[in-house]
Amino acid sequence: MNIIGPDYLIFGVDDVAACTEFLTAFGLEPVDASDKGGLFAALDGTGLIIRRKDDPDLPAPLPTGTMLRQQIYGVREAADIEAIASELGKDRKVHKLADGTIESVDDHGFALKFQVTKRRQLDMPAERINAPGAPAQRAANELGVWDGMPAKPRTLSHVVLFVPDIATAASFYSDRLGFAITDVLENAGPFLRSKANDDHHTLFFIRTPEYMKGIEHLAFHMGGPTELMVAGTRLINRGLESFWGPGRHKFGSNWFWYFKSPLGCNVEYDADMDKHDDSWVARQTPITAEASQMFLFQFREKWMPGPGPKSR
Ligand SMILES: [Fe+2]
Repeated sequence: MNIIGPDYLIFGVDDVAACTEFLTAFGLEPVDASDKGGLFAALDGTGLIIRRKDDPDLPAPLPTGTMLRQQIYGVREAADIEAIASELGKDRKVHKLADGTIESVDDHGFALKFQVTKRRQLDMPAERINAPGAPAQRAANELGVWDGMPAKPRTLSHVVLFVPDIATAASFYSDRLGFAITDVLENAGPFLRSKANDDHHTLFFIRTPEYMKGIEHLAFHMGGPTELMVAGTRLINRGLESFWGPGRHKFGSNWFWYFKSPLGCNVEYDADMDKHDDSWVARQTPITAEASQMFLFQFREKWMPGPGPKSR
């Protein structure tokens, strides 16, 4: 089952206008957006689909307060959809749509859809750095930062879900859908990598009471840590509220900066995540603040060297 990762996440929201403003500020591109919602896309076309919560076309909500209505996973080819339909059809209803996609639910009732991926192949350089002892990655006179530099989300990276039963959630995605467990934070949950994606994680679970079941955050990959810092600083300067970051996680090594959003969950920029293959042996450690981040920056107002006391 060659699942690549989330193509789209569908939300039924309270305030379409506030979500539109937030997601546009975040750097996503509105596609066919109106006061009824629309797609907010990263550079490769993946993204978030926002609708009013009473939109009759939306999949049914979970009984909790989460605004997440459906996760749409992209797979490599039609045969993968057939394989998923066959597997999930063993013990649950699988709805086959006329366009070749299928819909079903996971063991916690989260609505899932599978489609041949619609993401576009990106052909862009990674952020480039210069370091003594290594060939310069930026040519002479090529700048590393400048006002107005682009810092747009490149692709939908991962989803983190609150679930009451970690073992059941992990078993469904690993045993039934072929995800690999890359690392485990004990008393929270496992990091999972969809098999046709070499990112450290496309999915993570956090154990919570049943009434909190829903999405905790979602993340988009940036082109590197500088883009992450530039984009996050722009949100701060617009008055948006940071939730956690900027910093760098230990598991996955990804830089992170999370922001509160009107989607009822946090929305994260990440950058420079580790890559893995099937030879990787999962690590396991108790969840602590130390295990969760290698470092975490504290926000301060900008400062500059002052002129000092007036000379006499
Ligand atoms: Fe994350």
